[in-house]
Amino acid sequence: MISKKIAELINKQISDEQYAAQYYLSMSAWFSAKDLDGIANYFRVQSKEELMHADKMFDYMNDVGGEIIIGEIPKPPHEFANATEIFEKALEHEKIVTKGIFNIVKNANEEMDFATVSFMQWFVNEQVEEESNASQLVTKIKMVCDNPSALYLFDQELAQRVFVGEPNA
Ligand SMILES: [Fe+2]
Ligand SMILES: [Fe+2]
Repeated sequence: MISKKIAELINKQISDEQYAAQYYLSMSAWFSAKDLDGIANYFRVQSKEELMHADKMFDYMNDVGGEIIIGEIPKPPHEFANATEIFEKALEHEKIVTKGIFNIVKNANEEMDFATVSFMQWFVNEQVEEESNASQLVTKIKMVCDNPSALYLFDQELAQRVFVGEPNA
């Protein structure tokens, strides 16, 4: 059985993952409006992944008998200065998500809730990937943003991304 405190932290994290999904969807829409459909696709896939993360936590809460309380999701920003700003904001947001995940692990450790510590390990590893990808994309967009033909190729590259759900999710 999960403690009330850990359940609250996971409920909060579910909302944060859902907010991330909305945020990325908003970013995707910005790129679609600029006809950068490849980059729009990247953020669309990213959005779906975040919903999958929320679902994973939802299932875990059910498994351990935690009370699920669905929180409010704030409206994400929809106006951005330029493409680089969007990638920077995506990286910034992943860092916030990482902090939330680390905080759950810290609290679960203190409570000797090793089931939650073990469950959250997947997210700890996932955030390493997420931050690494987001940071690489900030570097890349800075390289290409002022060069239309380079930007065209970058858009093509991100068009390749497809959403892969979890095998047993
Ligand atoms: Fe996530
Ligand atoms: Fe993420």
